[in-house]
Amino acid sequence: MEKQNEHPTLIVIFGGSGDLAHRKLIPALYSLEKENLLPKKFKIISFARKNFSNTQYRNSLLKVLRKQRTRVSSKVWARFSKKISYLQSSFENKSGYEELNNKVLAFDKQIKLFSNKIFYLATPPFVNYQILRSIRLTNLNKCCESRHSRVVAEKPFGDDLESAVSLNKELRKVFREDQIYRIDHFLGKETVQNLLIFRFANELFNSIWDRDHIDHIQITISESIGVENRGTYYDSAGALKDIIQNHALQLLALTAMEQPKHFDEKSIRDSRVEILESLEPYTKKEIEKNIIRGQYSAGKTRAYRQEVVEHDFVL
Ligand SMILES: NC(=O)c1ccc[n+]([C@@H]2O[C@H](COP(=O)([O-])OP(=O)(O)OC[C@H]3O[C@@H](n4cnc5c(N)ncnc54)[C@H](OP(=O)(O)O)[C@@H]3O)[C@@H](O)[C@H]2O)c1
Repeated sequence: MEKQNEHPTLIVIFGGSGDLAHRKLIPALYSLEKENLLPKKFKIISFARKNFSNTQYRNSLLKVLRKQRTRVSSKVWARFSKKISYLQSSFENKSGYEELNNKVLAFDKQIKLFSNKIFYLATPPFVNYQILRSIRLTNLNKCCESRHSRVVAEKPFGDDLESAVSLNKELRKVFREDQIYRIDHFLGKETVQNLLIFRFANELFNSIWDRDHIDHIQITISESIGVENRGTYYDSAGALKDIIQNHALQLLALTAMEQPKHFDEKSIRDSRVEILESLEPYTKKEIEKNIIRGQYSAGKTRAYRQEVVEHDFVL
């Protein structure tokens, strides 16, 4: 029987010229290629606005990869980079999606199969609604109806409650619920994953993890790097939406939730929801008293305001 990772797969990275794609997604895929864990028939199409030729785009990825690693195998990179192509268009342009659709169909035609598709939204939250709508209007999602196709939406999910609800509605119009991954990569970190084991598989802690034995909990999310080239995004989203409503609340939920009935997706989700629903929002007065906000000054990194003025991605 064919193993899952052997089935031809095509990934479309919306926002492929951005920081997430350069620093996290492509390096992760390169590592999979190095370990021979990618399907043999595999293609990445990066879709964004900057004007890159395929060669320029691949070189910009390689430059970042080389900064991150002491050694990049030229043999692996040559093999891997051939699978990457760049499609330049604004997300507002219908012709961009039509061109994308043609490229996707051409790949399936070339391999004479329906490939698995992954649509990765490595994009600021305010453009995601537009992307999904355009995917629907240009029928791009039709190529996802068979096989294991997925759409991945990065956090933050929308700008506020209203936009999150309409983004969710649009997602559900375009993809089935089991195809939708609303992800917060932070939750995949080992320290976060280990919290469940630490709490519930260890009788020593499990028996005293309650309000009689714990006075208070502090969650510290410290960064060793500054905002760097993410200024355009960060200055408009802000730390509250970038970190608190996802990373911090998820950590809070995993730390404070009751033991789930089972360790399956639904039970863990139910326990998390239960604790989040029991939180009492601060009143305006309590916010003023308990919340301190600020921007970092120069130290190990340059000051925040110095970094955001040089926000464009430097190649
Ligand atoms: N960076 C990280 O480490 C990280 C980690 C976790 C989650 N995230 C999330 O991932 C998302 C992307 O973050 P990022 O840091 O990669 O942001 P970014 O560096 O600002 O990249 C945004 C990407 O979206 C493209 N884009 C934006 N508006 C567009 C438009 N109208 N038409 C075409 N392309 C457009 C940009 O294209 P051009 O630059 O070519 O215009 C760029 O490729 C955000 O939601 C962020 O919260 C990021």
